[in-house]
Amino acid sequence: MADEVTLSIDGHVVQVPAGTTILKAAEQLGEKVPTICYHDHTTANGLCRLCVVEVAGARVLSPACTAEVREGMQVSTRSERVERSRRTLLEMLSSAVDLSEAAEIQTMMEEYTANPDRFPEGQTRSQPILDDNPMFIRDYAKCVMCWRCVQVCADDAQYTHAINFTSRGFDTMIGTFFDKPLMETTCVFCGQCVGVCPSGALKAKRQYLLERGLTPDEVMGATRSERRRKKRSK
Ligand code: SF4
Ligand code: FES
Repeated sequence: MADEVTLSIDGHVVQVPAGTTILKAAEQLGEKVPTICYHDHTTANGLCRLCVVEVAGARVLSPACTAEVREGMQVSTRSERVERSRRTLLEMLSSAVDLSEAAEIQTMMEEYTANPDRFPEGQTRSQPILDDNPMFIRDYAKCVMCWRCVQVCADDAQYTHAINFTSRGFDTMIGTFFDKPLMETTCVFCGQCVGVCPSGALKAKRQYLLERGLTPDEVMGATRSERRRKKRSK
């Protein structure tokens, strides 16, 4: 296999090492392909499909975050078909998930003129907030299923394996094994999952309480007394 691959992206020729993804090749040209599930520090899985691009001659759109470049490839990152696909995907996401704290996704919705009310009959993924530990809260009504938190909890960073996908189909969500409270799992509260979450589904408990109007002293008191209470009940 040749070490370098030459291709064109949106009419601009670029040469990159073989094995480079279309996403990274586009970055080399200064072009940003929108992503949701992709994160520079986690393994790309091609889950959300927001990064799809059109490759000349290909039957279906390709996820730029996982598709590798090929010699002579002609890629279009903003064709009409690509834009329609991204717009529809954002509209479907918006019909099911609370995106109110997903700032980057909201910006994308504006950029792609996505109508958040396009699918008013869509079933929502609303569910109660999980507040079962002193460190952070989990509000999976806001979860976009990007899987980043699971990956950093597992082999991409922490090797803790406290969370994973649970259930099937529309009911799929992130959870602990047997739905145990986080305090009863292998979670070490490193906070890496919170750090990579793009949607506000995972949030530091102190931030959550501050946003609800508690003073810093009240927040400290609340999380400290909760820690003492959890310890006593062990
Ligand atoms: S909780 Fe956050 S990081 Fe985890 S899958 Fe949902 S949106 Fe992604
Ligand atoms: S960013 Fe490529 S599939 Fe999600």
